[in-house]
Order: sequence, then C-alpha cells, then structure tokens
Amino acid sequence: MSITFTLDPAVDPALRDGVLDLWTDVSNAGGAVGFVGPVDRETVRPELLRHLAAMAEGRHRLLVGRDAAGEVAATAFFSFNAHRLQKHWVWLYTVMVHPRHQGRGYGRDLLAAAADAARGFDGIEAIRLSCRGGLGLENFYGSCGYKEVGRIPDAIRVAPGDDRDDVIMLLPLR
Ligand SMILES: CC(C)(COP(=O)(O)OP(=O)(O)OC[C@H]1O[C@@H](n2cnc3c(N)ncnc32)[C@H](O)[C@@H]1OP(=O)(O)O)[C@@H](O)C(=O)NCCC(=O)NCCS
Repeated sequence: MSITFTLDPAVDPALRDGVLDLWTDVSNAGGAVGFVGPVDRETVRPELLRHLAAMAEGRHRLLVGRDAAGEVAATAFFSFNAHRLQKHWVWLYTVMVHPRHQGRGYGRDLLAAAADAARGFDGIEAIRLSCRGGLGLENFYGSCGYKEVGRIPDAIRVAPGDDRDDVIMLLPLR
C-alpha cells in the first residue's frame, strides 16, 4: 500500500466528502487539527468550506494524498501570506494522515511532498507551521527536518484546566 500525492486536486464532491471524513475521523481519534473530539462532519464542514473558498481565491493550496483505493488518506493545506513583507514563506495547516494509515511513514512522505511542492512555489523560501504541545508532534516534525523556533506557553486551551503550548516549527527550503 502506498499514498499518491496531488497538488491542487480538482475540487469535486468526492474530494470534499473525502477531506471532510478524513478531518472528522482524525479529530475523533485525538488528532490536533483544530478541533477536540468528539466532532461530527457538520462541525468540521464550515472550516473546510473556508479553506475551499480561500483555495478558489488563490490564498490557499491543497496537497492531498490518496490510498491505493483512491480514498482521501492525507492532507496538508498551504496558506500564503497577504502581508507584503511576508510573501517569502508559507504556512502549512491541517497536516493529517487517516488513523488507519498512521505509523507507516505516510506522515513523513506527506511532509516531503509538501516541501517539494513549496520549493516549486514562486519566491517561497520556508514553511512555517504551528502545532499543539504535549503530543510529541515536535518530534514528528523534527524527524522531517523542521526546527522548533518558538513556543507560546498555554496558548491552546483544549479543555478547562488543560492548556497546551503553541509550538512554532520552521523548515527553511534553501
Ligand atoms: C502526525 C501525523 C501526520 C504523522 O503521520 P504518520 O503517518 O502517523 O507518521 P509517520 O509514520 O510518517 O512517522 C514518522 C515519525 O514520526 C513519529 N511520529 C508520528 N506521529 C507522532 C506523534 N503524534 N508524536 C510523536 N512522534 C510521532 C513516528 O514514530 C515516526 O518516527 P520514527 O521514524 O522514528 O519511528 C499523524 O499521526 C496524524 O495525522 N496525526 C493526527 C493529526 C495531527 O495531530 N496532525 C498534526 C497537526 S499539527
């Protein structure tokens, strides 16, 4: 089994439903992708629609991974900066691999594909992302070449009394 990555896939109902199912399943398995489970598809849908609208306006781009059956199995969204002084780097959001595929190296493949894609973006010199502390994600990103460059203590409240650091990771591309 392997994952095939596509940058800027055609946005059709199958793609929308696939990303929605992936995002919902990952959140309900404890993933740190903007929600705290349990969530249903209708909770996630408005967030996905915001990404899709931003893609239509050219502010975001999507890297999608599909498994051998053609199902959406992994995603990462790129977000470009509007600020004129920050156009030389890009944000990466919603990095996720479906729980049934995790732990087999696909997360690392996804980040390698994201770095390759970003190297092809005009004028982009680095990828920045932020991740929720307390889950070991810094180690995952570290194993993919990212460096921790900042940490905002207790900036993410996953539940009353359970605040997590917002960890900022950076991958220079040149
Ligand atoms: C984080 C995630 C994308 C990693 O994908 P994956 O396919 O499971 O990861 P890989 O199999 O490529 O693992 C690569 C390495 O990172 C490590 N790793 C993976 N997930 C990890 C985690 N959550 N914490 C610490 N280390 C992790 C693996 O052990 C492996 O290290 P090794 O080669 O030394 O054994 C995936 O687990 C996921 O989707 N998690 C839920 C969503 C999420 O929290 N995303 C992060 C948003 S900031």
